Amino acid sequence: KRVVIFISGGGSNMEALIRASRAEDYPAEIIAVYSDKAEAGGIAKAEAAGIATRIFVRKDYASKEAHEEAILASLAHDRPDIICLAGYMRLLSGRFIASYEGRILNIHPSLLPLFPGLHTHQRALDAGVKLAGCTVHLVTEGMDEGPILAQAAVPVLKGDTAETLAARVLTAEHKIYPLVLRQFASGKAEPQPADAMIISASL
Ligand code: GRF
Repeated sequence: KRVVIFISGGGSNMEALIRASRAEDYPAEIIAVYSDKAEAGGIAKAEAAGIATRIFVRKDYASKEAHEEAILASLAHDRPDIICLAGYMRLLSGRFIASYEGRILNIHPSLLPLFPGLHTHQRALDAGVKLAGCTVHLVTEGMDEGPILAQAAVPVLKGDTAETLAARVLTAEHKIYPLVLRQFASGKAEPQPADAMIISASL
């Protein structure tokens, strides 16, 4: 399966997907990395991995529609079977999503439906939850609300800050996203129950 990854920042999830895709039995090939930020750290990482990068800066376009038009035109050439959003900080329009209905995945750093949106780790700490984690879901028009494919949980530890919790969740993200893409690309939409991992950090 042909996969395109969308990033806006450092691209550590992108890196994890690229690394996983190198296994010869991996059912997905990363065709290109798209970014809406010219300075995204992930661009250099993608280039270093020999993956094509395509940059579409929003302010270069007259409107959101024009911006998406340009991206869709480029995607028509790349012909992805699957689009993986990985730290992509822009909402896709219903029209865009309809073009790739049921084939856009996203990773969100919380156990949805808890804490959709931003600053998820601080909100989890403020709420006093004992478990945090990440969710891979299908992208629908609403933000962070599509069907959940898999989740990974990590404990919230005494003295955690948003930074220490984010780092612990990120390691779980890097494990679960490649696994979900493997399952999704091989046609098993939902990973087997065993794959909905509970990551136990060293308590
Ligand atoms: C991660 O927490 C991810 O869950 C969120 O963006 C953060 C950075 O991701 N979507 P990355 O390092 O750019 O992959």
